[in-house]
Amino acid sequence: MRILIVNIKELLQVRETTIEKIEGVAMKILPTLKNAYLLIENDSISDFGNMKNLNGIAADTTIDATGKIVMPTWCDSHTHIVYAGNREGEFVDRINGLSYEEIAAKGGGILNSAKKLQSTSEEELYQQSAKRVEEVMALGTGAVEIKSGYGLTVEAELKMLRVIKKLAKNYPIKIKATFLGAHAFPIEFKNNKDGYVDLIINEMLPKIAAENLAEFIDVFCEDGYFSTQQTDSILTAGKNFGLIPKIHVNQFTVMGGVQTGVRHNALSVDHLEVIDNNDIIALKDSNTMPVALPSCSYFLGIPYTPARQLIDAGLPLALATDYNPGSTPSGNMNFVISTACIKMKMTPEEAINAATINGAYAMNISNQYGSITRGKKASFIITKPIPSYSFLSYAFGSNLIDSVFIDGKKYKKQYAR
Ligand code: NIG
Ligand code: FE
Repeated sequence: MRILIVNIKELLQVRETTIEKIEGVAMKILPTLKNAYLLIENDSISDFGNMKNLNGIAADTTIDATGKIVMPTWCDSHTHIVYAGNREGEFVDRINGLSYEEIAAKGGGILNSAKKLQSTSEEELYQQSAKRVEEVMALGTGAVEIKSGYGLTVEAELKMLRVIKKLAKNYPIKIKATFLGAHAFPIEFKNNKDGYVDLIINEMLPKIAAENLAEFIDVFCEDGYFSTQQTDSILTAGKNFGLIPKIHVNQFTVMGGVQTGVRHNALSVDHLEVIDNNDIIALKDSNTMPVALPSCSYFLGIPYTPARQLIDAGLPLALATDYNPGSTPSGNMNFVISTACIKMKMTPEEAINAATINGAYAMNISNQYGSITRGKKASFIITKPIPSYSFLSYAFGSNLIDSVFIDGKKYKKQYAR
């Protein structure tokens, strides 16, 4: 099956050879081709070029993209899409003056979601989560990482990870699973925190590894959650089972979590709403991708990750949604890139690089996703007619997506749930 897209006003993120990630000043450059064509063969990109050089290419379907921009689908490297119910009550509590931390201290927050999830059947959890997966695909996301962490018991964590596995099997979107048993301490372990760390290490991890349910391991390293020492023990154990670290750090507190992540050669360190110079120094000499989650800052009214400081220090940066019921009930990467430009002073080029190739790096898939490169997966967005790619960030509330192709297939509401 060959699909040819012709008369593309501008084809974005065109890379002749695969690159892993982009950092520092290079992030300001977004390579593009104007007046372009794109040829898809089955699930892969087979060719692209200038319309002037389009000679005698035969295709089963030809799509005219006059006035439209074509770009790789978003790579959302940090989500908690699998959850049960919602937490709009806590949202109202926050409007009325309680802080996110105060709500959590009252037994709300992550523990509230865990209670809901524990009493939800695997099938019902799958149905609720599948709707969100379809929602983000329609919004242009072609690859997504999904974490466990609302189970907090052996059974419920396994239930979440099995749901993620089933979503990955049933949908064309690329899904990567992360084990986040260390998301919060269950009430029963309030006075025995190391007991819960033991449960993660000695009971959850072996079962997850045996069923091959996760590729990454995450810890919420934060004051009141997991200390750097506990993070260190959990990551060490996870690595022994072959899991790659990706951790939550510096959301509210600078406490050495970035250094812990870097020491473990974490694939990414995520949140970073608060950072200091030592964090930047640690990241400079590493392969670890910093990840910013601007929709979380927007929703909670907390500081935005200082993108300028990170990028101007020569570091790479990825952008992701953090889609979850407590701090970010939105999986919209279009809003993420707009907010990154508006609030974090990233240029549209930097934001698109951060939300495509660098997001792919933070999921270990930049050899297959994140750019328009021959041989990579044919996962791309066709926009509505728009004046330029900066318009994507500028018109922050508009739906500018005409259609989404994932692994060579056009997204349609056609999936049997
Ligand atoms: O990434 N920070 C920790 N975890 C999630 C929020 C979890 C929740 O409130 O349910 C986050 O923001
Ligand atoms: Fe998160």
